[in-house]
Amino acid sequence: MSGAEASITGAGKARTVWVEGDDRVVHPRGRVKGTLQVPGDKSISHRLAMLMALTEGAATFEGFLASEDCIHTLRAVEALGAGVVRHGAQVTVTGTGGWFRAPGCVLDMGNSGTGMRLLAGLLAGHSFTTELTGDASLRSRPMKRIQAPLEQMGARLELTGERGCAPIRVHGAPLRGIDYRSPVASAQVKSCVLLAGLLAEGRTRVVEPKSTRDHTERLLRAMGIDCRSDGLEVSVEGVGGRLPRPRITTWPVPGDFSAAAFWLGAAAMLPGSQVLLTNVGLNPRRTAFLDVLKRMGAKIEIFPTDAKNAWEPMGAVAIEGGELRGTEVAGDEIPNLIDELPMVAVLGALAQGRTVIRDADELRVKETDRITAMLKSLAAFGVRGEERPDGMVVHGGGRIRGGGEVVSYGDHRIAMSGAVLALAADAPVRICDVGCVATSYPAFWSDLERLAVERSAGA
Ligand code: S3P
Repeated sequence: MSGAEASITGAGKARTVWVEGDDRVVHPRGRVKGTLQVPGDKSISHRLAMLMALTEGAATFEGFLASEDCIHTLRAVEALGAGVVRHGAQVTVTGTGGWFRAPGCVLDMGNSGTGMRLLAGLLAGHSFTTELTGDASLRSRPMKRIQAPLEQMGARLELTGERGCAPIRVHGAPLRGIDYRSPVASAQVKSCVLLAGLLAEGRTRVVEPKSTRDHTERLLRAMGIDCRSDGLEVSVEGVGGRLPRPRITTWPVPGDFSAAAFWLGAAAMLPGSQVLLTNVGLNPRRTAFLDVLKRMGAKIEIFPTDAKNAWEPMGAVAIEGGELRGTEVAGDEIPNLIDELPMVAVLGALAQGRTVIRDADELRVKETDRITAMLKSLAAFGVRGEERPDGMVVHGGGRIRGGGEVVSYGDHRIAMSGAVLALAADAPVRICDVGCVATSYPAFWSDLERLAVERSAGA
């Protein structure tokens, strides 16, 4: 197999990634080695952009994730009246000082469920109608989960796509606070309701079935808003169009743990690897993947950043690879590594014994059905897996067969996890249709090129 054009060439190093049109051909490499700063956190970047767009004054985000998903959110808040200035990963948003203005166009949220669901929450409290749309994947994802609570609060949501999907017409209205018991463990649903609650009359409470990432709650509190958490219950007091002017004007965005997970996984599964990831977000609701890696046998050291007032914990993570053993991932752990489950499946392929993923039916409604897509990806490497309604069983420890093709199904995490598994294969592997990677991690391929090394080189 030969690549027509090299994407990134490490000096004196054999090329790992070859560009062939919309595909990438990844050559096997025995190890990953080096220090890396992963791009900014996607969840936090979306939230900062939306919330600062409503406040008074300017806020600057250092390390903002300038990926397609977050750029769609920036464009949306700009259409809603906020000022946006972007220089790479430094973004300044000047807020509207209380309320958005009617956008006068359909807001295209691209591939982003977070962008669409969270913004719908804020728009529900405005006195105009907004139409939100997205790409084919986003238009196939369930939106009734936000329609139900937002309608209880007083807004009306028309789901004009098929089977309760986007495009969504959000008919905003004066909202009242509600007590909402969410049937799904979803930070997007929780955040949508909390953001609507911010604009509502009175207090809004959300009880989730399992705890999910709490970036919205942390950011609201850092902004001086009365947002309380008590076990599975979170509540916020409505402030209408009177959001306090945040005392913080420069917000450092931690590196995205979910981006870091590709390199943590690669290092863990390739013996002789050594990787140090700097300034990674270490919010405990995001890092369950570290516990899984440890259970599987990886050697990990964490160096928390000593920043007393940081609203989001961060630090460096060092990892060394070795032999892995299979594990089981289920229950309360699932929401705290939901985006890392494709990498758990990849690790399962390299580990001795079985790796079982349960209670993860939410994977079926991500950018694609990630249970089916991951099993097909593993099958392309000759790895045996069994499908379960809420997860999968991966039979690891066998040959990782190269020479095949991984289909991305337009899902960034399927493409990237396939590329990581390709490092361990016995021949090059084609990762097809990788445009989706730009939604969350535009620098993924160059970072892969940087970190991947031959097993024999400079060990
Ligand atoms: C996100 C929450 C998760 C996650 C997504 C980002 C967020 O979705 O999969 O990538 O920013 O709130 P759910 O909360 O719907 O599971």
